[in-house]
Amino acid sequence: MKRIAPSILSADLARLADEVREVIEAGADWIHVDVMDGHFVPNITIGPVVVNALKKVVSIPLDVHLMIENADFYLDAFIRAGADILTVQVEASTHLHRTVHAIKEKGVRAGVALNPATPLESLDYILPDLDLVMIMTVNPGFGGQEFIPAMLPKIERLKEIITKRKLNAEIEVDGGIKVDNIGEVARRGGDIFVGGSGIFGTPDRKETITRMRREIGK
Ligand code: DX5
Ligand code: ZN
Repeated sequence: MKRIAPSILSADLARLADEVREVIEAGADWIHVDVMDGHFVPNITIGPVVVNALKKVVSIPLDVHLMIENADFYLDAFIRAGADILTVQVEASTHLHRTVHAIKEKGVRAGVALNPATPLESLDYILPDLDLVMIMTVNPGFGGQEFIPAMLPKIERLKEIITKRKLNAEIEVDGGIKVDNIGEVARRGGDIFVGGSGIFGTPDRKETITRMRREIGK
């Protein structure tokens, strides 16, 4: 099943409830929430209080992407706030196995994100435990950056590994996804597509999501 996850980082945050309602009506599957701490990435965004506020107006899963150091300290706060999927960055996780299992023990889906320069091999011993792997197709920190094409073979290889090892992890692709590249990303093996500027930055979000779905289905 292919899913589209609009990232609220590019929404009008002063009108957040209306913005998420609009993309849900337009057919979004998940709402992607980018959490940045000003340490792991050079930007600061939102925390559990915003996730909690969103939970009251959003009926679809909240896909929370933690671009933070010391994620272990904050897992419970995000879970209590209503995160349905929690993804941590492998580069910021010293005890990744412990972190992943701490997430899963709370009944929340666990994901691990890889920066563009991080090899797939870093997941060799944790892949069977993951619900999703997030391939970053930009360097995390900001919305509106260019998709890095060298990530296409990385997505393809991850898909091969998951298939060969008969694992369940889904592949989420995050950064620079637009109507004109989402089809290619889907063909290479992407299952979940995050779109920030490529969705919220367009005038007609319904038309954009409809066109994205058409591209994915080709
Ligand atoms: C990047 C974030 C992304 C970002 C995507 O640091 O993790 O989720 O919001 O935004 P676009 O689609 O504009 O690259
Ligand atoms: Zn993200």
